[in-house]
Amino acid sequence: MTRKIAIFDTTLRDGEQSPGASMNAEEKLVITRELLRMNVDVIEAGFPVSSPGDFRSVRTIAEEVGDKAVVCALSRAVIKDIDSAADALRFAARPRIHTGIGVSPSHLHDKLRITEEVAIERAVAAVRHARRRVDDVEFYAEDAGRADYEFLVRIVESVIAAGATVVNIPDTTGYSLPDEFGRRIGYLMEHVEGIEGITLSVHCHNDLGMATALSLAGVANGATQVECTINGLGERAGNTAVEEVVMAVRMHGEELDAHTDIVTTELTRASRLVSSITGISVQPNKAIVGANAFAHSSGIHQDGVIKKRDTYEIINPSDVGASGSSIILTARSGHAALRARLEALNYHYEGEALGRLYDAFLDVADKKKEVYDEDLEALVGEHTRNATAVYLLKAVQVSCGVPLIATATITLADREGVETTEVAYGTGPVDAVYKAVNKVVQVDNDLTEFSVQSVTRGIDALGEVTVRIAAPDGEVFSGRGADGDIIVSSTKAYLNALNRMINKTTAQRGQPKLTPQDTAE
Ligand code: KIV
Ligand code: ZN
Repeated sequence: MTRKIAIFDTTLRDGEQSPGASMNAEEKLVITRELLRMNVDVIEAGFPVSSPGDFRSVRTIAEEVGDKAVVCALSRAVIKDIDSAADALRFAARPRIHTGIGVSPSHLHDKLRITEEVAIERAVAAVRHARRRVDDVEFYAEDAGRADYEFLVRIVESVIAAGATVVNIPDTTGYSLPDEFGRRIGYLMEHVEGIEGITLSVHCHNDLGMATALSLAGVANGATQVECTINGLGERAGNTAVEEVVMAVRMHGEELDAHTDIVTTELTRASRLVSSITGISVQPNKAIVGANAFAHSSGIHQDGVIKKRDTYEIINPSDVGASGSSIILTARSGHAALRARLEALNYHYEGEALGRLYDAFLDVADKKKEVYDEDLEALVGEHTRNATAVYLLKAVQVSCGVPLIATATITLADREGVETTEVAYGTGPVDAVYKAVNKVVQVDNDLTEFSVQSVTRGIDALGEVTVRIAAPDGEVFSGRGADGDIIVSSTKAYLNALNRMINKTTAQRGQPKLTPQDTAE
């Protein structure tokens, strides 16, 4: 039997640190359920001290997960962070506190301004304190990829002696080359006293596009836990993508002496779900889950694949849940058929919620003859977004063309159901709609990105619009909307981004959310 590699998913924590990827508690719960279906080993649910919202969300996720996975909460090597993490995990069946400190010369001298000895003292004190609150404590040595080898050995040995059960070696800046990072892990395996009694973890960033390669080099040299995110979301260029590392381990399990327990057929669905919730699209040529990952366009390749699939295809699309759907709903399908199809896709809707989704489904089915699984997933995404909306779209109409001046009339309803209608002109229909929305919502922002993509193929396909807006303080919010009419999708996407911005600003009330990279006072 090969070594089991634990999959530590940090989509809800490091992934959420991607600009524009902030998620509300309900959205995080939906993703948690998908992570459970994937059978991940550890879910990093958040950074509880960073905001009351994050604290509550970690608590709710811990309750939802029960004993199906370890639930982990992040903290800096600071007592109040650790206590907050422990309190948020109070009802977790398998709680883990993830605490740590910077260990590279840059972190020690420039950010923290402390000596190596002080860093070791703080790390040991943090681990000891965390061990008083929970039995499972993971220590992260931030920026370990650029740390001095001997110092890294000393700090890792000290935290193991203090009670750490897992030690995480992050390449925080994505600086390393795979060979060198692998050597670093091998060096720790060889030189750290007590390392055989703990789990060694790797957490790599993608700044040079090598996060997956770095993680695999870690596994090849002794790591038995990989930290990763769905679609590789995360700070800057992101983290190791779970779908890439899982499929690489599956393909090269013998050479790596490794396997994971991930249900690979969930990977495509997980990718779509996270993309739909965060509004961050997956690039078409993304490995494993991109729209083109199994598309063959050149004649020579098509000929090869027709003769034998593995001529040009190393993964069977059905292994990652990417095969086309066989059941297609139409306007004649009733509530039961919709519910059954949703159940097959692992979405559970009953009563009023099912009724609302059915109405939205009928709208689509009336316009489009056949409703595919991808359409249903887009509708579910829409439904989840609307659950927390401050403003809902009631009506939108545009007149545009040559030689007209584009004019939009929109009606929005607020949470109390009060409807407001506004009219605006613009350089085009979308500009006119956005100006009309601005007249109602009145929140200062800059539209920085706008893109349209079709959910399925064909002229009647749902058009999915993704937008990104920047708040005056520079914070980015993404929004997504799907409809058969792209003016409606555009309006929904913009409203979704505005709703996220308003919800976040209200929740924070002027307090900027901490990140683990903030220095503790
Ligand atoms: O990249 C990093 O070093 C981190 C730590 C907080 C684990 O995300
Ligand atoms: Zn990270």
